[in-house]
Amino acid sequence: MQYSMSQHGIVLLAVWQIWAAAEGATECNEERATNMLQLEFTRMKTRDEVCGHLLVEECDPEAYYTCSNNCRFHSNGRDCFRPLPDILAEHADPTGAEFDGYCYFNWTANWLTYNGAILDFEQAAIESILNLRDSSYSGLSSGPLITYRFEGVENLTTHLDMDHYLYDDLYAYSLGFLQGQGLEPAWMKNTSLWVALSKQRCEEIQAKYNFTKDELILSEWLDRNIVLAVMTGCSTEWPHPWNGSANPAINEMAGWRSSTDCKPVTHREYAKHYYVKCLLGHRNSAADMAYSNSRACLLDGNHIAHFSECPYAPDVDF
Ligand SMILES: *[C@@H]1O[C@H](CO)[C@@H](O)[C@H](O)[C@H]1NC(C)=O
Ligand SMILES: *[C@@H]1O[C@H](CO)[C@@H](O)[C@H](O)[C@H]1NC(C)=O
Ligand SMILES: *[C@@H]1O[C@H](CO)[C@@H](O)[C@H](O)[C@H]1NC(C)=O
Ligand SMILES: *[C@@H]1O[C@H](CO)[C@@H](O)[C@H](O)[C@H]1NC(C)=O
Ligand SMILES: *[C@@H]1O[C@H](CO)[C@@H](O)[C@H](O)[C@H]1NC(C)=O
Repeated sequence: MQYSMSQHGIVLLAVWQIWAAAEGATECNEERATNMLQLEFTRMKTRDEVCGHLLVEECDPEAYYTCSNNCRFHSNGRDCFRPLPDILAEHADPTGAEFDGYCYFNWTANWLTYNGAILDFEQAAIESILNLRDSSYSGLSSGPLITYRFEGVENLTTHLDMDHYLYDDLYAYSLGFLQGQGLEPAWMKNTSLWVALSKQRCEEIQAKYNFTKDELILSEWLDRNIVLAVMTGCSTEWPHPWNGSANPAINEMAGWRSSTDCKPVTHREYAKHYYVKCLLGHRNSAADMAYSNSRACLLDGNHIAHFSECPYAPDVDF
């Protein structure tokens, strides 16, 4: 299995073997999504670096997962290992401008890159959705119907039209970001409102979970993403395409021994994943919320549907 970038983090592409074969390989150009970023990479190098950046032009081959933790090779890498609240305090701007962690930690993973200030959340969501589309997309509701086993909900189902839906759908449900859970897509058009709504969600999360600053360390968060993916596989009834990781260290962290002896993902895990995005800037957490809200909805009977099956669909021919 191969995981690649997504708006919230990694997703799986179904080529497990590539991972094993690429154990010694250091480049991250095995995936379409990354290939695209590599082009971007070449183009951007000619400009002045205004953000954090890589010190060597490759992904760290020792990361748990391909291109998912380049802290050792990063201009702000030292700060990957310190609590994010401390870093935010040090970068407090007298004008009140928010710290943009996607800029500061640009390219610490191939799914944490700075692509300019986000001005239009609807458009940003469309771009994220299209970036993830590839030939594995089987068409609306043509993928297998799968059922989650998740805290506090019974018979939550979705069609797995692409592998990354497994993580993205449950993550969005857990955070309450699906259409039908209270968040109106129309509000996306009002940028400041959308950012404020994300900020409010961030505050609710922290009020509920009280993450300590020692729990909020970027490098650990980067490594945890693939772990959450494996745990999400444990929260899903078979058949589905995720069967642990080819890397024993990841399975160890995820508590995965087999599909029947594994650790399911929790609301708290997803909330923490989101909360770090909040610390990386509310425009970034708002963009994640826009992606989650644009692509899927919760229908009667706890079924998660997508795009044209939903009250709102982005204005693109999906
Ligand atoms: C982000 O990092 C990449 C990789 O090092 C670099 O090429 C790019 O210029 C950086 N972007 C900005 C806006 O600094
Ligand atoms: C969940 O589905 C099972 C099997 O179809 C059914 O027996 C059960 O009543 C459902 N539970 C709820 C809460 O809908
Ligand atoms: C956008 O939302 C803000 C509240 O955050 C509100 O004050 C403002 O009037 C809204 N703008 C428009 C154009 O609706
Ligand atoms: C978090 O802290 C608040 C206020 O101190 C407290 O009311 C709440 O119960 C705490 N929650 C957890 C999960 O510890
Ligand atoms: C998952 O992987 C294990 C070990 O590689 C294998 O024995 C098992 O059959 C796989 N299960 C499924 C459902 O693919």
